[in-house]
Amino acid sequence: MNLNKNYENLEQSYLFSTIAQKVNQFIAANPDKKIIRLGIGDVTKPLCKAVVEAMHKAVDEMSVQETFRGYGPEQGYDFLRVAIQNYYKKRNVELELNEIFISDGAKSDLGNILDLFDKDNTVLVPDPVYPVYVDTNIMNGRKVVFANANKENSFLPLPDKNIKADIIYICSPNNPTGAVYNKSQLKEWVDYANSNNAVILFDSAYECFISDSDLPRSIYEIEGAKTCAIEFCSLSKTAGFTGTRCGYTVVPQALGKLNKMWLRRQTTKFNGVPYIVQRGAEAVFTEEGMKEISVNLTYYKENAKIISETMKECGIWFVGGEHSPYIWLKCPNNMTSWEFFDYLLENAQIVGTPGAGFGKNGEGYFRLTSFGSRENTIEAMERFKKLFV
Ligand code: MLT
Repeated sequence: MNLNKNYENLEQSYLFSTIAQKVNQFIAANPDKKIIRLGIGDVTKPLCKAVVEAMHKAVDEMSVQETFRGYGPEQGYDFLRVAIQNYYKKRNVELELNEIFISDGAKSDLGNILDLFDKDNTVLVPDPVYPVYVDTNIMNGRKVVFANANKENSFLPLPDKNIKADIIYICSPNNPTGAVYNKSQLKEWVDYANSNNAVILFDSAYECFISDSDLPRSIYEIEGAKTCAIEFCSLSKTAGFTGTRCGYTVVPQALGKLNKMWLRRQTTKFNGVPYIVQRGAEAVFTEEGMKEISVNLTYYKENAKIISETMKECGIWFVGGEHSPYIWLKCPNNMTSWEFFDYLLENAQIVGTPGAGFGKNGEGYFRLTSFGSRENTIEAMERFKKLFV
């Protein structure tokens, strides 16, 4: 047998695994120090009551002969697809049920979708970027070109007519920078994609952090998007499902063959999300569920505010933190990202994510998340101020 040689072109380990290794080494050497983790974007608030009740009920159904269920539909149960369809309707986006596919999260589908595209496509990703977009294409040996995101364009690159891309990744609110595209900026990407016969893979995993109704939460709020965009969303950050695993992918019929191809791919390679999890996910979209998750989202947004205010006090340049759980800051004293990572870990025992791990334009920047507990966020920022005010 021959190995997939493309794997040799990947970094040795996934960014967050490298960070976890470094932190574990520090803990082993300093067992008495209290670490505060504001690195990986993992939630800390438990599942809300409506979700837990729905999942308990589903467990009970599974324990009784009459209501037990085996394999479910690969593309998800209709009860959840209808709930998602109605969620979009509230934003005046009309979707057909067969355009909605339930998944075990945006990360898997963002990688899996590449099954539908030929190796010879040119892929455009912003830099810095969520490493999954780049790594999954490298694994397939596809050519990746970058759109520079930087301080000058507020980390929101716009299309360059001189670059011919076939597959374009956009994440808004952005991971890692927290920057958010407005409608006219997204329209430029939609127009570019439609005129180049390109597809946009739109990652909207952080849409629930948008609090300004003028900012788009779905790419389908933009005219023309249905003929060029696939949208990936997740309940991970919306409703604390990072460990529970449920998301959804929208593949519009207007994209032609892609909708049928995705169905074909999923029915062959995927057996659906567990019934119990889908019942929990359905509860997120009820009135009760929406109210309860908004309490958690407000909590994280307040943490983001505490972090942003600290950056202001320290005179540190940053973006994000307003419609996003991420704060993207310029490393103080011209430190490189990894120097700053080590410095913060050594001197304040705060774990963040080095910007360089997200691409070359991330060098000199650093990401903090607002997903920690209130106590830890406050304590981390007190420690931070001691170093930089
Ligand atoms: C992150 O920290 O960037 C996220 O946790 C990544 C993810 O959602 O997979």
